[in-house]
Amino acid sequence: MPFAHITGWGMYVPEPILTNDDISKLVDTNDEWIRDRTGIRERHIAREHEFPSTMGVEAAVRALQIANLAPTELDLIICTSSSPEYIFPATACIIQDQIGATKAGAFDLQAACTGFIFAINMAAQAIRSGSIKSALVVGTEVLSRFVNWKDRNTCILFGDGAGAFVLQASDMPGGVMSAVMHSDGSGADSLAILAGGSRYPASELTIHEGKHFIEMDGKEVFRFATRVMGRAVVETLEQVKLTTNDIQWIIPHQANYRIIETAAKYLKMPLDKFVINVDRYGNTSTASIPIATVEAVQKGQLKAGDKVVFVGFGGGLTWGAMVVEWTGPIPAKKHVHPEQYRRFARLRSFVRRAIRFIEGFFSRKEL
Ligand code: ACO
Repeated sequence: MPFAHITGWGMYVPEPILTNDDISKLVDTNDEWIRDRTGIRERHIAREHEFPSTMGVEAAVRALQIANLAPTELDLIICTSSSPEYIFPATACIIQDQIGATKAGAFDLQAACTGFIFAINMAAQAIRSGSIKSALVVGTEVLSRFVNWKDRNTCILFGDGAGAFVLQASDMPGGVMSAVMHSDGSGADSLAILAGGSRYPASELTIHEGKHFIEMDGKEVFRFATRVMGRAVVETLEQVKLTTNDIQWIIPHQANYRIIETAAKYLKMPLDKFVINVDRYGNTSTASIPIATVEAVQKGQLKAGDKVVFVGFGGGLTWGAMVVEWTGPIPAKKHVHPEQYRRFARLRSFVRRAIRFIEGFFSRKEL
């Protein structure tokens, strides 16, 4: 059975930064309160022309560059987002088209902030079963467009950004070692965007009632997160007969510094074994784990041979964790340039649209 290795990683955050002081001009809050209760100092906010797909493409191309893998080699693309571009088509399909992943099947997976862990597990399982050889998983968020900037309970928390991993099959041991996935729909109303689906289609009333914004019972989510995070880490370590002493890093979902602190206490682990960057990005939902991972690699913290646990929680309610033996790119003889495929992808997409238009024109004439 092949092993599923994480061979590429990339991130993208939009340039504009919104500080706590900036938010204190919008709602009744202040920098000290936000830092004390959440650990967040600032977050990045997407510009008007930035979308989950455009940011996801940037992160994906960077991940493919590290993996030294042409997009045309990809078999599967899974995109996870709590702020997807549309209800459908899937954001994954837009990314597939824009990077030129001509043979990849692409779909979105929805598990709120836990989505990235669930998606990595699905991609790894597909690789381990032998049905595919490579996959791209993208977590990408423009949550700032779903935040009620008049609600101080939520607007302080979220930020925009994207992260991506490439997974590849190899006979070399390592990569994704274990994973646990959990859900509890009885807590579905603790964290939700209610309108825009078929239960509350967009209407004047849904807009008037603010049902298109993120609604959250902060205390409830906090209690849930502190209850499940540590346990999920232990559970996934037990699957491969490891303990916290065997792992070098924990990369948790970056929602709140105090939640991470509580998990560290539960696991009796020092906080410096946790990769934490919530202070600079806020909660970027499905993008938070890959963004933290990319930074850990860039800083020289996470190295080949390290065992790392990814752990996350989010709306649904959902939570999950996985153990990964970090390996890095698979050595290759030839050098590929994924960014060049992007230019061809644009041309290809244009030509395919043109052909579709012409075909449609003539088939109408025939009818
Ligand atoms: N600035 C100043 N005061 C505030 C603010 C603010 N931004 N927000 C709330 N307060 C006030 C409240 O009104 C309350 O005042 P009161 O005592 O007079 O009523 C007081 O501060 C305490 O409010 P709490 O809600 O009890 O504050 P708490 O310590 O619970 O912190 C927080 C709130 C930060 C939201 C916390 O509950 C939390 O982080 N929860 C988890 C949220 C989370 O992680 N969500 C993402 C999940 S992942 C996903 O799927 C998207």
